Amino acid sequence: MTDRDRFTGRVAIVTGAGSGIGAATARLLAQEGAAVTVADIDLARAANAVDAIAALGGTARAQHVDVSDPVGMQALVDDTVAAYGRLDILHNNAAALDQNARDQDVVTGDLDTWERVLAVNLTGTMLGCRVAIPAMLAVGGGAIVNTASAAAFYGSRTLAAYGTSKAGVVALTRYVATAYADRGIRCNAVAPGVVVDRAVQEADAGAPAPRLGPYVAGHLAGRLGYPEEVAAAVAYLASDDAAFVTGECLRIDGGLTVPSPLHHP
Ligand SMILES: NC(=O)c1ccc[n+]([C@@H]2O[C@H](COP(=O)([O-])OP(=O)(O)OC[C@H]3O[C@@H](n4cnc5c(N)ncnc54)[C@H](O)[C@@H]3O)[C@@H](O)[C@H]2O)c1
Repeated sequence: MTDRDRFTGRVAIVTGAGSGIGAATARLLAQEGAAVTVADIDLARAANAVDAIAALGGTARAQHVDVSDPVGMQALVDDTVAAYGRLDILHNNAAALDQNARDQDVVTGDLDTWERVLAVNLTGTMLGCRVAIPAMLAVGGGAIVNTASAAAFYGSRTLAAYGTSKAGVVALTRYVATAYADRGIRCNAVAPGVVVDRAVQEADAGAPAPRLGPYVAGHLAGRLGYPEEVAAAVAYLASDDAAFVTGECLRIDGGLTVPSPLHHP
């Protein structure tokens, strides 16, 4: 447990929570008192994340979901409410990162890849909002935090579907924030730069041929981010500390999207 308890009595769902940013967020919310459903398409990963939370004294349950499946997403909310009695927080975080290698430009990329990336990253985020909002309204409101990306603000020769999906997540965040502000629901986003587990970064730095080095360039911080740093921002946006913040997209990117390339070559 931490010395803060911003989420005591609250119930959260985190998608894509078996690994990385989602796992770190689920852990932090639970450490600060939330009961958390750790949702992932890979149930074994979700179960491992739940074990890590339990080892810290937190309350969590694992649930399989493919966020692009409307029926599964409704079950995610229904089962969470059945288990913990309510829903206060949703972190829409899952993304189809397994598609990245096939996600090229609009001519060379295949249509199946485009549709899967949009279905998971953007439609999955919309479905999360769609099924969570009624449950949140039933308890007087709640907080949604969506994981976007620095890629939402750039062009690139590849990852056209990914970048487009994340720009859509930023827009969707504003639409949900606008439609439900008067009923007690806030909706915000985080846009991470390149984020890699600390242990992986340390192992890479000590490797004979480090592969993460090129990604550091451009991050004004001079390093990559850690999942816990994004989790801290998600927890802030999900908490009452951010009661006056909605429709925001908070860049947690070590300054990656700040300098003009014209003046910072
Ligand atoms: N790591 C980065 O550098 C970075 C940068 C910007 C944005 N992001 C975003 O952060 C989020 C988390 O990324 P991460 O780096 O922690 O990834 P990760 O690969 O560590 O975790 C993603 C998790 O999502 C799960 N998942 C994939 N498809 C799913 C689906 N259809 N339904 C449910 N779960 C599914 C995976 O099984 C995995 O456990 C993603 O939205 C990603 O786009 C990451």
